[in-house]
This record gives sequence, C-alpha cells and structure tokens, in this order.
Amino acid sequence: MQTLNSLDPLRRAVAVLRQSGKIALVPTMGALHEGHLTLVREARRQADHVVVSIFVNPLQFGANEDLDKYPRQLEADCALLKAEGVALVWAPTVEAMYPQGFATNISVSGVSEGLCGASRPGHFDGVATVVCKLFHQVLPDVALFGEKDWQQLAVIRRMARDLDLVQPHVDAVIGVATVREEDGLAKSSRNAYLSQEQRAQAVALPTAMKDAISRIEAGEPVSATLARLQETLLAGGFSAVDYAELRDASSLIQLEERGAAPMRLLVAARIGATRLIDNMAVAAEW
Ligand code: PAF
Repeated sequence: MQTLNSLDPLRRAVAVLRQSGKIALVPTMGALHEGHLTLVREARRQADHVVVSIFVNPLQFGANEDLDKYPRQLEADCALLKAEGVALVWAPTVEAMYPQGFATNISVSGVSEGLCGASRPGHFDGVATVVCKLFHQVLPDVALFGEKDWQQLAVIRRMARDLDLVQPHVDAVIGVATVREEDGLAKSSRNAYLSQEQRAQAVALPTAMKDAISRIEAGEPVSATLARLQETLLAGGFSAVDYAELRDASSLIQLEERGAAPMRLLVAARIGATRLIDNMAVAAEW
C-alpha cells in the first residue's frame, strides 16, 4: 500500500492502477472506525483497486468548530487500511489541496439548505469543494459515502450530476447503508462521548424514528407524527431536537404529506453536549 501526499505522484500512481482495473474512492477525514471500514469493504466489492483519501478539510469547519482538535492519526489509519487491502492512501497536505490564493467555492443550492446546513453555514460548500477536487485528482470509477450523512450524500450526488462528474470518471456515487449497534443506534465516533446513562437513552432515537415511520406509512398525519417523535425524544432524555423532518430522498424538498417518491425521515437531536443524527427510509405511497 502506497501513502502519498502530493499531487504529481498521486496522478502517476492512479494512472498505473487504472491500467489493471476499476478504481473506487473512499473519501475520509481519517480517525477511521468501523463505519469507514464498511465503506472500504464495499469499495473492494465494487472495484479492483481502492483509494482512500485522508484529509481533514479546513473548508468544511465553521469558525466555532474546533478544526485543530479534530483527531489526526495517519499511522494508525494506514495500518487499518493496509489490513483491508487498500491500494493507495491519498493524504495531501493542506498546501497540496489548497494552493496559495485558492479562491474557488462550490455551492450546491437546495439540498445544502436546512437540516444540518442550517446550523453549519458553509459546511456543505466546503464538502462539495473538496469532494469535487478529490474526484478530479483520483478520477475514480465509483466513490463511496455513508448514508448516515444523508444530506452530504445528496449534495455530492447533485454536484456530480450538475458538474458532469458522473461520466466518464465517476460512474456512480454509491451510498452505503448505516452501520448500527445491536440496539439500533447508528454507529458514530460521537457515541463515545455519551455517558453510560446517555448511551442507554440514545436508543430512543432509532426506536422513535421507526415508530414514526410506521405511523406515517399507516397514513397518520406527518406533522402530528413528527411532533410526537420530538416529544418522545425529549421525554426519553434528549435535551433538544434540532430537526425532525420528512424529505424527498434525493431533492431533499420538505414534505408535509407522504408522497409517491422515495422519502427519508431525518433527525438531529442532542443528549447533553452530544449531537446525534440519523435518517431512515420511508416507503412511498403506492
Ligand atoms: O464525511 C466526511 O468524512 C467528509 O465530509 C468528506 C466526505 C471526507 C469530505 O471531507
């Protein structure tokens, strides 16, 4: 496994890999956990060679979010990736990614707005800009992202279509299903911040979401069901619900009623200082 941090050697290395098959890209910010490794394993099924990028992207951090404290553990991450059969780790320096005078911003309107975009202004611009650059640098055949960050996935899919990144270089932006704990809580590095009591309470999130989905699919009114979901979370130990919304799965247009196209229930809620997000599919009306 090669680890590279500047662009010319990366381009040469991916050109060599491409001669012997399809390339899958798994973009990450490092501090890898089981969720990332699930993406890598799926990438290995989708392509002949897996390239993992590790880059803590300053553009997607807000002024009040601590970029400096974000965990950086390149050596440990590389050891995990080597064991998974990854061909190449692309770990650019900030200077290699954003040369002096860098002045370009990719902003995907619509899908970036509301939900997590409301509390993190500029965040999805930062994500879209770096992912667009990664696509151009690695020229993958497929790229894989976790469905846990559904809004991020929708932003990247929209950008890939709008900027013609889907062909010829990226045939597919693939979403990989959220990995869950046995009790249903979505796996996240943030779960480690929960106390034992908070961890026990956190299961209310997937449980209340599943209940809300059954009610919506049974024809109960959406707004009353979402209000009930919020009350259940607050009664179950959550300190605040940032949002609980039913949206079209790809455009992310907010829905007041169950529709005929695939939908998603998206929730962000806080337990103490920890903000948990989750999303689940809601079956379309026949
Ligand atoms: O999901 C992440 O880890 C990041 O937002 C991504 C897609 C690697 C872009 O920096």
